[in-house]
Amino acid sequence: MARTVIAGNWKMNGLLAAIAEIEAVVAGLPGRHTDADILICPPATLITAAAQAAGGSSLSIGAQDVHAAESGAHTGDLSCAMLSEAGASHVIVGHSERRADHGETSADVAAKAEAAQGSGLIPIICVGETLDEREAGRTLDIIAAQLDTSIPDTAPGAPFIVAYEPVWAIGTGKVAGTEQIAEVHDFIRSRLTERFGAPGSTTPILYGGSMKPGNAADILAVAHVNGGLIGGASLKATDFLAIYDAAKAQS
Ligand code: PGA
Repeated sequence: MARTVIAGNWKMNGLLAAIAEIEAVVAGLPGRHTDADILICPPATLITAAAQAAGGSSLSIGAQDVHAAESGAHTGDLSCAMLSEAGASHVIVGHSERRADHGETSADVAAKAEAAQGSGLIPIICVGETLDEREAGRTLDIIAAQLDTSIPDTAPGAPFIVAYEPVWAIGTGKVAGTEQIAEVHDFIRSRLTERFGAPGSTTPILYGGSMKPGNAADILAVAHVNGGLIGGASLKATDFLAIYDAAKAQS
């Protein structure tokens, strides 16, 4: 069985005052008897403070991107070792906003994922189709190509996570229907198992895209949905904990 993972992606939101939300999540965890893993990926500037606030609790802290190189002339970028030292245990790679805003290719994403795993970080590798691609009936072809080229061949050697985030459902309030989610998650699970064997059957596959307290239970009940990657609704501790509670019902 894949572990259930509830992951928050704060994107470019949050100044130091937002650490209060991390503290509120930490304060809310005792007594919530769930087997799900819980993770928040704040902006890089807050990783250290977030990791300190989460210290000793089951809340993990992650980053939103990383450079594949160990060091060097890459102005503005951060290495795996830097993120680990700051307190991150996970890193999102290949989010559609990085692919669109920064021209990241799937080959870039695979290199980042491999570097992350090599330094002990757990990559959350994102895939997802655009609305045009879905309307053209190309969803599964796009997902297949992204999976094949964004997940490095070395992936089964260390833990990794896949997130399915239909681009048209991110930040739009448009949630994919449970049948649409089921079709893609089932496809991803088969693809992972075919390529990697047993490790592919236990890799968590998260859904992301306008997930919130009101729809989390339905989404998390879909076969092969092993958690969520949550943007907007992860910014408030009460909403994020409510989604975590919905995971409890599944685990
Ligand atoms: P959203 O973002 O929950 O705000 O739609 C999800 C994501 O992009 O990870």
